[in-house]
Amino acid sequence: MMRDRTVLLGVTGSIAAYKAVDLASRLAQDGAKVDVVMTNCATEFVTPLTFRSITHCQVVTDMFAASEEHDIEHIALAERADVVVIAPATANIMAKLAVGIADDMLCCATLATKAPIILAPAMNVHMWEKAITQENLTKLRARGFKIVEPSYGALACGEVGKGRLADVEDILTAIRQILDRKSDLIGKHVIVTAGGTQEPIDPVRLICNRSSGKMGYALAEAARERGAKVTLITAPTTLPPPADVEMIEVQTALQMREAVLRTVPEADALIMAAAVADYRPATAAKSKLKKEEFPLMQLELIRNPDIISEVRGNLIKVGFAAESENVVGNATVKLKNKGLHLIVANNIAEAGSGFGVDTNKVILVDSKGKVEDLPLLPKSEVAHKILDKVSALLSPAIGASG
Ligand code: CTP
Repeated sequence: MMRDRTVLLGVTGSIAAYKAVDLASRLAQDGAKVDVVMTNCATEFVTPLTFRSITHCQVVTDMFAASEEHDIEHIALAERADVVVIAPATANIMAKLAVGIADDMLCCATLATKAPIILAPAMNVHMWEKAITQENLTKLRARGFKIVEPSYGALACGEVGKGRLADVEDILTAIRQILDRKSDLIGKHVIVTAGGTQEPIDPVRLICNRSSGKMGYALAEAARERGAKVTLITAPTTLPPPADVEMIEVQTALQMREAVLRTVPEADALIMAAAVADYRPATAAKSKLKKEEFPLMQLELIRNPDIISEVRGNLIKVGFAAESENVVGNATVKLKNKGLHLIVANNIAEAGSGFGVDTNKVILVDSKGKVEDLPLLPKSEVAHKILDKVSALLSPAIGASG
């Protein structure tokens, strides 16, 4: 996958710069052409010669040094890159990229490129946690930068916290995912629902569930990466909005139902990753309920409509099933009862699977009874496995029937 691909590796001034040497070496061993651009600060930690010896390519440090190959070097670098990776990325480069400053070779090439950009930040924990750094991160994410988050551990400054450069293996996975990216959903409209709906009891209190929305957001991002037009219908979450995705924010199951039924006539696929509350309070009090008036509180709950079962039409319907026993059996019953093409089942009792975590271990069951048991994977990879199935279901042979 790396052969004949060009990776532009940006290295900025952090003690973790030495790990970028390993990254460059792994990329070169995998057959990639690695252009390295170092900031002045980076050269204080590692020498350009180190990278040149490993990549056998020119290492650029000076904006105005005459190029051996091209007249306008930063444009040439930007254009020939299949992917740009900045590792380690300091708080400084993140701030500069967030506002579009172009005062050195790395900033100029990053601003000029049309290739996807990956940032692997590394810094002191307090710098990482500072509101302005997090604001910049949110901005960059919203503009489509892929972030490989730093890990937690002992930092060079003597502190312990989040700020260590991610493992080289994780950065390589992010690069491979981007280079391997398919464009099989171009021209398709995919609707994804995410998060747990909230059902109000009164203006202050509500009934909710433990869904974080991570699986749905990963699906929206993955579908957009593969070229789909994506509508993300989301219940409240704490997640940053994915880039280039139409967001419809809802709170309750009834609002989600309305948004889904309004948007599906235009869609090719509906993926219901949301955890829809099965019940809602029969009435939501207009003003705050006072405990003095209710020594015994009894809530009357009524069933919410089953959204995905109500959706009709020539589109692919994918549902989720969170089970704690007889996973395939229960999921198959849901698949049939709800008229789905595919159901993504997971055993919430298994480690690394379930609510709030970044990984998931799922079993895919299709309407023909085919069962695919996937290993524990990051949710972004699970999303692509699900979309592989959706893409196959949307293939011309099936699409022609409608
Ligand atoms: N779902 C839906 N509308 C609802 C409830 C669920 O569209 N009112 C969708 C979910 O988004 C999910 C699938 O149906 O894709 C299965 O949801 P789940 O809650 O696991 O199934 P239930 O049928 O509610 O079964 P149970 O809670 O009894 O396990």
